[in-house]
Amino acid sequence: MEISTVGIVGAGQMGNGIAHVFALSGYNVILNDISSDALAAAIKLIDANLERQVSRDKITRDAKNAAMARIKTTTELTELGQTDLIIEAATEREEIKAQIFETLLPHLQPHTILTSNTSSISITRLAARTDRPEKFLGFHFMNPVPVMQLVELIRGIATDDDTFQTCLAVVDTLGKTAATSEDFPAFIVNRILMPMINEAIYTLYEGVGSVQSIDTSLKLGANHPMGPLELADFIGLDTCLAIMNVLHDGLADTKYRPCPLLTKYVEAGWLGRKTNRGFYDYTGETPVPTR
Ligand code: CAA
Repeated sequence: MEISTVGIVGAGQMGNGIAHVFALSGYNVILNDISSDALAAAIKLIDANLERQVSRDKITRDAKNAAMARIKTTTELTELGQTDLIIEAATEREEIKAQIFETLLPHLQPHTILTSNTSSISITRLAARTDRPEKFLGFHFMNPVPVMQLVELIRGIATDDDTFQTCLAVVDTLGKTAATSEDFPAFIVNRILMPMINEAIYTLYEGVGSVQSIDTSLKLGANHPMGPLELADFIGLDTCLAIMNVLHDGLADTKYRPCPLLTKYVEAGWLGRKTNRGFYDYTGETPVPTR
C-alpha cells in the first residue's frame, strides 16, 4: 500500500521527533495536539533539531526547508481523516488513547492504518476498541527519535500481514531498522531496559552506590552512552514508573516491582529533565545529583 500522508497525534517529546523524521523522508505530515502552544513549541523544536543536522552536514538546507514545508499542524483531530497512516503518540494513558481512536474512527478512510507509539500498553486491547484491528499495529520509536536507529513493530493478535509489511517498508524509507515484537507487556526494549533502570534505582535506594558512581559504572564499565539514572531522567520518571507497573501487573512477577524510591520521586513531581529535577538537578549549567 502507498503511504504518502501521515497523521501524528501528540506533539510532545515523541510526536515532534516522529514528525521530524517522516517529513525529512518525504512524507506529508499532519501533526495534531489539543494545545496550539504545544504545536508551536514542537515546530520550533523540529526547526532547531533540523538546523543542528544542517550545521553538522547531515542534511542540506534545501532538505530542511522541504521537510518544514511538509509539516502542517492542527488542533482538530478530525483533520487527520485524510491520511494513509496514523501514529498516535499522546499521553501514555490507555483511556486517553482509546478516546482519541474513538474520535478519529468515523473520519478515517477505509484503507487508513492506525498505529500507536505506546511503549507498553497492549496493542491487541487498543486494536479491539477500533473498527479495524487487522489494520492496527504498534509503531514504537525510541527517544531521541531523529537519532535512534530502532523502531519496534508490534503485531496485535489480529494484525494482518499487509499492514505489517506496509509498516515494515515505511520504517525502511525512514532509514531506520525495525525489530518485531510480539504483543506482551512492554515489548522488547522496555522489557529489558526498564528492569535495568529499576535495579539501578534499587542500587541507589539500598545505598550500594551514589547517583554518580552508579552512572559512571555503567557508562565506563559497560559502555552505555548514558548512565541508567541519567537515562531515567531523560525518559521521564513517570514513564519509567508506568512501564514498571505494566510489567508488574501484566506478568505478575515480583521481580518487576517498582523501586519505592522511584515511586517517591514521582510523588514529589520530580520527573527528570522535563521538570528540571529527578536523580539530577538541571537548573544549573551542569546536572547535579540530588542524592
Ligand atoms: N534531533 C536531531 N539530532 C540530535 C538530537 C535531536 N533531538 N539529539 C541529539 N542529536 C544528535 C546530535 O546533533 C549529535 O549529532 P552528531 O553525531 O552528528 O554530532 C548526536 O545526536 C549526538 O548528540 P550529542 O553530541 O548532543 O550528545 P551525545 O553524544 O551525548 O548523545 C544521545 C546524545 C544520542 C541522546 C546519547 O546520549 C544516547 O544514545 N543516549 C541513550 C538514549 C537511549 O537509550 N534512548 C532510548 C530510550 S528508551 C526509549 O526511548 C523507549 C521508551 O519507550 C521509553
